[in-house]
Amino acid sequence: MNIRNELEKRADIFNKEMKKYLKTGTPKRLYDAAKHLPLAGGKRLRPCVAMLSCESVSGDVQRVMPFAVALELVHNFTLIHDDIMDKSRLRRNLPAVHIKFGESTAILAGDFLFALSFEAMQDIPIKPSVFKKLNNSLIQCVKDICQGQQLDTEFEKRKNIAEYEYLNMIQKKTASLFRLAAHGGAIIGNGSTEEINALTEYGNLLGLAFQIWDDYLDLSSSEKTLGKDIGNDIRNGKKTLIAVHALENTNNQDKKLLEEVMGNKDASERDIKQVVEVFKKTGSIEYAKKTALHYSRQAKKTLETLKDSEAKTVLIQLADYSIEREK
Ligand code: IPE
Ligand code: IPE
Ligand code: MG
Ligand code: MG
Ligand code: MG
Repeated sequence: MNIRNELEKRADIFNKEMKKYLKTGTPKRLYDAAKHLPLAGGKRLRPCVAMLSCESVSGDVQRVMPFAVALELVHNFTLIHDDIMDKSRLRRNLPAVHIKFGESTAILAGDFLFALSFEAMQDIPIKPSVFKKLNNSLIQCVKDICQGQQLDTEFEKRKNIAEYEYLNMIQKKTASLFRLAAHGGAIIGNGSTEEINALTEYGNLLGLAFQIWDDYLDLSSSEKTLGKDIGNDIRNGKKTLIAVHALENTNNQDKKLLEEVMGNKDASERDIKQVVEVFKKTGSIEYAKKTALHYSRQAKKTLETLKDSEAKTVLIQLADYSIEREK
């Protein structure tokens, strides 16, 4: 079984479903801006997690599709706003929405996708009492993302962030949506309480590992491979786990360098390289990798209670993939 094929297979099914929600209208520019990222590709991991979670409890995957669409639309909405906040210019190998359409239209395009996600939610074939709970979970999740993103930007200005603060921040900005994907997939698939709980925890742990690895890719990958700006986290002064660890474990001279370069929008390639060297010297990159591995292992462990299935195997492999991927 090849994990990338398994994900692609599901992404293809998903893309056909999502297109149904991306109709055109006026003003055309708003619709074009809203469709820009969803149609630009992306790994579709949150929809895949929802589909796999549903499959792993022997649910009918077709029933989870509107929910999967809602998740991806929320994800894309947050990406549009995130790129404005992070001053990122490139997303999915294309100009970010605010670069192509301007900030005002990008903000509205994000809001528009958010609204579309609730439209998709209404098509989930579940009874009203279950819908009410799931819809509320989505509302809570978006509140979490906003809180996490706010903390993420506030941390840029703070010198020292504790590891638990970083973990709380990524739990909210990233893991909450993976958690919801796995949770909702299991609910719509009519999983047992034990299965729902195990998968919910899996999604959360996967999300933590996923974000730590995303932070690592920002300084190890290339723009061409990742399809996003590189070194942006350092220029923005992001308190990634790598940065948090380095700031705690470096000598005074190197700390001065970190404080000078991190958060400096005009930092040169050379400055960024020097910071990465300090990250290596302090063992911070290894530390972050080790931490991501820990969460990935924990995620796999939660699946032990599930009965064996092809979907379960893919979920296990996805936990490995999330900390091995190159993009
Ligand atoms: C990027 O998510 C945002 C993070 C939470 C790190 P993805 O890496 O899943 O982005 P796409 O959807 O594949 O473009
Ligand atoms: C994004 O985190 C989290 C969101 C909720 C959008 P990042 O800011 O690290 O994501 P990328 O690297 O821009 O995709
Ligand atoms: Mg961000
Ligand atoms: Mg960003
Ligand atoms: Mg990132």
